[in-house]
Amino acid sequence: MSVNVLVTGANGQLAKTIQKLYKTNKDDICFTFVTKLELDITVPNEVKKYFKNNLVDYCINCAAYTNVEQAEKTPEPAFKVNAEGIKNIAEACKETNTVLIHISTDYVFDGEKESPYLEDDIPNPINEYGKSKLLGEQHIQKQLQQYFIIRTSWLYSNFGKNFFKTVVKNINEHKDLKIITTQKGAPTSTYSLAKFIYFLVGNKITNYGVFHFSDKDIVSWYDFSKIIVSNHDKSRLKLLSSTNISTSKAQRPKYSALNNTKRLKIFKKEVLLSNSIKELLSLL
Ligand SMILES: NC(=O)c1ccc[n+]([C@@H]2O[C@H](COP(=O)([O-])OP(=O)(O)OC[C@H]3O[C@@H](n4cnc5c(N)ncnc54)[C@H](OP(=O)(O)O)[C@@H]3O)[C@@H](O)[C@H]2O)c1
Repeated sequence: MSVNVLVTGANGQLAKTIQKLYKTNKDDICFTFVTKLELDITVPNEVKKYFKNNLVDYCINCAAYTNVEQAEKTPEPAFKVNAEGIKNIAEACKETNTVLIHISTDYVFDGEKESPYLEDDIPNPINEYGKSKLLGEQHIQKQLQQYFIIRTSWLYSNFGKNFFKTVVKNINEHKDLKIITTQKGAPTSTYSLAKFIYFLVGNKITNYGVFHFSDKDIVSWYDFSKIIVSNHDKSRLKLLSSTNISTSKAQRPKYSALNNTKRLKIFKKEVLLSNSIKELLSLL
């Protein structure tokens, strides 16, 4: 019997990656991708109606407000999407017995731990985006039992807006870039994450709960940009290291790497993604 999977936020980089890799598949998994225009998760009746009128076995929620800087200036829209919107989705999943796969973030942590964060470390977000995402997680945990909350970090791809694309654009335009050296984390390819999500659905995994998912290299933004530049024509961009980006209003965790042990222990080698950033970039 086919499995029906709804993917929200279809114009985002993660949803686009899932679409590219798996829209056509041999596992009888039927994906439906809906954009914000087709399903706005902040409108409770719209969400309820969609789930009532369509058979949804899994909802992969890729819809989110992801502009960290803007969220600091005007938090309300971020909370509307990342907290209230997720509450709407969780309620609809509860009513229709749908498994929710939701994506959360390393920014729920404050970055003070200095070693990779475990799933049961206490969150303590230091910016409005992180606070809104944590509230979203809490709504899910209050409503549902059949959920995966996947916290990931520093997503990049060849879709949408992300750090990798910004660096490449600056290389192409021969511009200089000033990049922070004092924040460390694990850049994660949306391709790696999409594969893990597909693994959960394709294998009907029922080890529900919170999971951390990041690729293996832990670097600073500056180190990450150096790796991106090394794959391109180096002479076209001057990288300037910086310990402080004064225009940034949002505080960011100085060390937000995620510990992947729980996931690797439960799912063993099937999802043991040990590629380096350099290898992952070469796939884009
Ligand atoms: N990007 C990262 O570095 C990062 C790191 C850790 C975790 N995450 C999490 O990973 C997930 C995927 O991130 P991403 O980088 O793929 O995000 P993205 O590219 O910003 O995509 C988010 C999508 O959500 C849509 N959206 C916004 N408000 C909506 C609403 N009210 N109803 C329905 N859709 C709405 C956006 O539509 P419009 O484009 O039309 O506004 C956009 O297409 C998010 O939950 C994010 O918080 C991201």
